[in-house]
Amino acid sequence: MIRANLLLGLTSLSFVPFVGWRAIVARLKLRSNWLAMQDKMSILTKVMDENLSGIRVVRAFASQKYEMKKYDRASDEAMHLFNKQITTRVSNGTMMTFAFFVAMGFVLWIGGQQIIAGTMTVGELTSFLAFMSILQQPVRQIGMMVNSYARASSTGQRLFDVLDLVPDVRDAQGAQAVAPSESVLRFEHVSFAFPSAASVSVLQDISFEARPGHTIGIVGPPGSGKSTIAQLIPRFYDPGSGRITLNGVDIRSIQLESLRRMVSLVQQNTFLFTASVENNVSYGDPWAEYERIIGATQSAQLHDYIKRLPKGYDSMIGEQGVSLSGGQRQRLSIARSIMLQSGVVIFDDSTASIDTVTEQHIRNALKAASKNCATLIISHRLSSLMHADEILFIREGRIVERGSHEELLAEGSHYRELYELQVRPIEDSFLAASHQES
Ligand SMILES: Nc1ncnc2c1ncn2[C@@H]1O[C@H](COP(=O)(O)OP(=O)(O)OP(=O)(O)O)[C@@H](O)[C@H]1O
Ligand SMILES: [Mg+2]
Repeated sequence: MIRANLLLGLTSLSFVPFVGWRAIVARLKLRSNWLAMQDKMSILTKVMDENLSGIRVVRAFASQKYEMKKYDRASDEAMHLFNKQITTRVSNGTMMTFAFFVAMGFVLWIGGQQIIAGTMTVGELTSFLAFMSILQQPVRQIGMMVNSYARASSTGQRLFDVLDLVPDVRDAQGAQAVAPSESVLRFEHVSFAFPSAASVSVLQDISFEARPGHTIGIVGPPGSGKSTIAQLIPRFYDPGSGRITLNGVDIRSIQLESLRRMVSLVQQNTFLFTASVENNVSYGDPWAEYERIIGATQSAQLHDYIKRLPKGYDSMIGEQGVSLSGGQRQRLSIARSIMLQSGVVIFDDSTASIDTVTEQHIRNALKAASKNCATLIISHRLSSLMHADEILFIREGRIVERGSHEELLAEGSHYRELYELQVRPIEDSFLAASHQES
């Protein structure tokens, strides 16, 4: 076009700088809008997710109306942003097309005058206009591309924010692998605060030693830091000061994968996969023989129940399968940890939903299965850990009392108080009952 007629060529391209400027402005606007919209959409999905997974709570508290309102609000906000987004896109596209037609008007005007002056033929002007209408399509596309680009760059950023995260806890250089074996676990003056609340010290100066075959009991009021102690051992977090050692080696210089094979943690909140009972039990050792799986469920006092299920060990757990009770879930997760045959076993309140008689059976079975393990038992129930070789009473992140059951009872304070509340009334009622009988 420029070669055919310089003046007309430049005139017909005069809209390009305007389109370029609009594209930059629109991209910035659209990008911030997409970012805000992603946020709103994530709130919306979160509300929906909570409502679906917590549907029983919502119904039990008759709060459908309230939840509906919450959902409506989130959805209105998202829709508002969506509308804004469409307005920006459309008005921007219109402006670009408008600029194009203004340029076309100029071409007609200038070309018309040149035809009157006789320096240009009608055919030349017509071909110019035909070329310009071919140019129109790419201009429209620029409008759409600006939107796609803004969307891709804003969502991409959110995605890479997550993908590029480097975990705080990772293998140190030259970390060594260790084979699961008899292990001595030591806490040496460990203090810790969660990264999300760095000013609140959750554990202070915790020291203890768990030797193979020994059991440490940890008891204390809710929120005193018991689970936090358990989470430090497989290195879900690293201590702020002090150190934790396995057989004398700082766990920070052990390869994470081998550390986590060495330590089996039965967590307070059990998590089961939507898979068969067998796969859930053998999660840490997928190639385990059938006999070992049965041995583990027998120790966890769950075998008899599984046997009675219509499909036995192939029964599915989860939405399409059987729903397990709280105590059954806990026993399944105990079975899962027995499979690991690790050197250190930690039970974090893992028998809270299991009755004391079954718990006693599990304990006896475990004694045989894990006689060379260092065992940590965390519990609210004194009867679960009275037999431990050493009992730590934790309060506000500190060990305030320690010793065997008899020593702690004799010294008398927090532990004794708990004993009087939990165990004595039962023993007394037994005594009273046997007196009456006699
Ligand atoms: N991920 C976390 N981020 C920040 N603070 C946390 C986190 N997890 C726990 N806490 C805080 O650390 C403290 C100790 O929690 P922890 O779970 O260890 O208590 P606990 O003794 O196991 O209690 P419970 O007997 O109820 O299980 C609590 O005050 C808790 O609010
Ligand atoms: Mg806990």
